[in-house]
Amino acid sequence: MGIDLKPIGVFDSGVGGLTVVKALRELLPHEDILYFGDTARVPYGTKSTQTIINFAREDTEFLISKDVKLIVVGCNTVSSTALEILLDNYSLPIIGVLEPGAKAAALHTRKNKVGVIGTTATIKTNSYPQKIRNFNSEVMIFSQACPLFVPLVEEGWENTEIAILTARQYLAPLLAQKIDTLVLGCTHYPLLKETIKRVAGNEVELIDSAEQTARQVKQLLVDLQLISPRQNRGSHKFYLSDIPPNFVGMAERFLGEPISHIQREGNFPG
Ligand code: DGL
Repeated sequence: MGIDLKPIGVFDSGVGGLTVVKALRELLPHEDILYFGDTARVPYGTKSTQTIINFAREDTEFLISKDVKLIVVGCNTVSSTALEILLDNYSLPIIGVLEPGAKAAALHTRKNKVGVIGTTATIKTNSYPQKIRNFNSEVMIFSQACPLFVPLVEEGWENTEIAILTARQYLAPLLAQKIDTLVLGCTHYPLLKETIKRVAGNEVELIDSAEQTARQVKQLLVDLQLISPRQNRGSHKFYLSDIPPNFVGMAERFLGEPISHIQREGNFPG
């Protein structure tokens, strides 16, 4: 098989990276996508740095064993904690979700006041502020961990009164700083867009890291001449380290289309 016909590999701590797959499928419909979700060990966002790094290496090696042409680290927690280590240790192209989101935020902000929300681990690394400042050193950045958002979305409560109250509580300090741009720095947050918009108001621009990443992946495939020449729609295949009972319903909400070809990878994570 020509290298351009190999699948794009995407991994995440669980189901959330399917928002990245959704964005990739919209922008690159002819590509095959092979997804790995570490559903046996999710969440990563509450874990220590070393554990996240260990898991990230295993996830990457799993996708390499499936012969992918490029890896997208769909998880913001892994992208902010372990991307540099992955880039240092593996030779195939690897893209995280952080830089595309950071770049878009740095370019969008008019008042140079950007908010970043993510898991506790992502916010602790300070990676988003560092990346945003690489693109625009004038920007003031206000970060907020929102650990309750992930379980809320997984419960299907993203458009409820509880979600609005939670968003109000988390976003209040950022809105008090008069941010004009807000980075949705977690795989689950695109599903909260409507709720966050209601709380933050129309004048705050929401940056969806998943969409921005898909654009960067497309550019990279063009630059490396790895775009699939296929004319028909690409397939997708999902490997999981565990298949929880509620997986399919949840996954279809994230992906926005019916899901098939789910496979549990027996030897992983052990
Ligand atoms: N995928 C994670 C992220 O984007 C959220 C879920 C988790 O904590 O593992 O940060």
